[in-house]
Amino acid sequence: MDIRALGYFVAQTDNIEEWKDYAEQVMGMMTSPTDEGGLYIKMDERPFRMLIVPGDEKRYLASGWELASQAAYKEAKQTLLDKDIAFEEADEALCQLRGAQAVLLVNDPAGNRHELYWGHISDCQPFISPQGVPAFVTGDMGLGHTVLPAPNFDETYQFLNEVLGFELSDLFNFKPTPDAEPVRIYFMHCANARHHSLAIAEFPIPSGCVHAMVEVENMTEVGRAHDRQQQHGVDLSATLGQHLNDKMISFYMKTPSGFDLEFGYGGLQLDWKEHCAFEFNRVSLWGHDFSVGEK
Ligand SMILES: [Fe+2]
Repeated sequence: MDIRALGYFVAQTDNIEEWKDYAEQVMGMMTSPTDEGGLYIKMDERPFRMLIVPGDEKRYLASGWELASQAAYKEAKQTLLDKDIAFEEADEALCQLRGAQAVLLVNDPAGNRHELYWGHISDCQPFISPQGVPAFVTGDMGLGHTVLPAPNFDETYQFLNEVLGFELSDLFNFKPTPDAEPVRIYFMHCANARHHSLAIAEFPIPSGCVHAMVEVENMTEVGRAHDRQQQHGVDLSATLGQHLNDKMISFYMKTPSGFDLEFGYGGLQLDWKEHCAFEFNRVSLWGHDFSVGEK
């Protein structure tokens, strides 16, 4: 499958206003209402990169994966048929809400919903941040990355690798405490240079997502976002730090839908022909104290 990038994600909330404030005041992004009472969040020239829909439960709903073309879409559909995997095709109303020509809806074995689409619709209007953020790092690398729960790890990885076509960037055996059994976190890329567009973690997460990541162009903008997180009393989930694998310098904070947002800069961009996958055995070179999120 020719997946190019994480084009968008969909989250749900019972309090759209809270997401609007968070998007504008904390993340520094633009918003506009959807016809269905939800919220589009804009972080680049595209009309949206995050779609917030109203619902009873605060949670992450779906990851939108961009396919290169109509031919790639047809090929993706044929792959699902050939492998006897249940899927649906979005109706016109859902395609319109997603701003795409066509969307395939498929769940992985862990129950994470993936939306495979082609032909996004854009008015290419400029991004003008209400907080003066010059730009987010997006373009053909998509909005950032998402980390999804996969308690049934092996079959979920097999699906993502063999059906959706994600390739392993590197892997980590995470020990929550020194005596605990390790849990696996696999980092995966698609057809763009971002170190990972998707990762899966071998544990359940009630909100449906471990975290999503957005990237800015320099440390100053990470620091300014950190200030806004403090000013608005948003819960910090991990202190500032630098990851070992993708070298990103970031902090983590809660979103209004219960999952975390990693806000960072400096993530590795790789030439996959040169890359050699490896196992690393610590999350970060420095910082990233996740115990602050447990208090
Ligand atoms: Fe991340």
